[in-house]
Amino acid sequence: MKLKQIGCAVSLAVAGMLSASTQAGEVEVLHWWTSGGEARSVSLLKQKMEAQGHQWKDFAIAGGGGDSAMTVLKTRAVSGNPPSAAQIKGHEIQEWGRLGFLTDLNVLAEADHWQTILPTVARDIMQYDGNYVAVPVNIHRVNWLWANPKIFAKVGVSVPTTLDDFFTAAEAIKQAGYIPLAHGGQPWQNVTLFETVALAVLGPQDYQRAFVDLDLSLIAGPKMVEVFTQFRRFRDYVDTDYRGRDWNDATNMVSHGDAAMQIMGDWVKGEFVADGKVLGRDYVCVPAPGTANAFTYNIDSFAFFKRSGEDNKQAQYDLARAILDKSFQTPFNLSKGSIPVRMDIDLTPFDQCAKDAMSAFKQTAATGGLVPSVSHGIATTSYVQGAIFDVVSQFFNAKTADPVKAADKLARAIKAAM
Ligand code: GAL
Repeated sequence: MKLKQIGCAVSLAVAGMLSASTQAGEVEVLHWWTSGGEARSVSLLKQKMEAQGHQWKDFAIAGGGGDSAMTVLKTRAVSGNPPSAAQIKGHEIQEWGRLGFLTDLNVLAEADHWQTILPTVARDIMQYDGNYVAVPVNIHRVNWLWANPKIFAKVGVSVPTTLDDFFTAAEAIKQAGYIPLAHGGQPWQNVTLFETVALAVLGPQDYQRAFVDLDLSLIAGPKMVEVFTQFRRFRDYVDTDYRGRDWNDATNMVSHGDAAMQIMGDWVKGEFVADGKVLGRDYVCVPAPGTANAFTYNIDSFAFFKRSGEDNKQAQYDLARAILDKSFQTPFNLSKGSIPVRMDIDLTPFDQCAKDAMSAFKQTAATGGLVPSVSHGIATTSYVQGAIFDVVSQFFNAKTADPVKAADKLARAIKAAM
């Protein structure tokens, strides 16, 4: 057959997959959504697929932030047995795309107008070499501070909006006998806190220069020394059992009134919602101290591995379609704590945190305050991210820590990973 005829045959075959599926297929989906709020959210996707007659094989690997899940995925892929779909996001989409594992979703993107319904940052991240190879699920804002208003009322301090306010309030809360900051000392959580402090100290432009452009003179320079100096101060306001704590256990400390605050992405809200907590009464959300003019984005997505069997390919297409369907975007994001990745969703059912997040997302996209998360794999490669995880965690956990040495060490570690 001539090339043109083959091209037409492929398009017709794939176009046939865009019609409502009649064949039952199987999708094995790797993800790390195992906390209360996360599991409740991913079950909505499972239900949607089963309603279409497909079999959902849940390949859940516990471990917030996904490091363990990615390790297992690499093992499965190297052994020639990847799952149908995997929660792969940010720069790792490029890394998997480059290896040639991923199915392209261009026909689906064309049919469902991804170019118009998705914001630029989401469109760009989902493409490798000009082809769509992943489908975005949501937009999480990382630079949030979650606070228990009852503790603040008891102590008589206000929820902080600047770094100075944070340390003043934290000291008063500590003196009153509460844990000021609930924190889990896992590398990804340490870097979530670090990047949020960096955003406050550096501002969005220098944050981009440091963690996207990897400007080593900035990273080794006095501004980053100040970031490490401020970051280290947070160590005085976490409890002694912070190391290794899971993020959702830290959230429970705020939820149950043992700790006053948590600095973490809005998947935290998914835990509050799952626990029946009420916004305003049990928790409040404010931009992390010093970052109200910025939005650190973390976009969850799924990539699809090349499969045999028309029914299994159909199931993959149906899964990708279901994820961006309006009827899924609303209930999923309400449960997950994120905002829809489609820009044409009515936010009336969403709470004020989500409405504030969406307006901040749109406003910062216009002003330059929209920045990619380092800790969640959006800003840079997994290799550079690993170097940052190591240096930042060692610094935060060390008995004594020298910010000048830390900045220099960070620059050297990043240079070695570039
Ligand atoms: C992030 C992920 C979020 C949330 C969080 C905690 O990397 O994008 O959806 O699950 O980890 O596990």
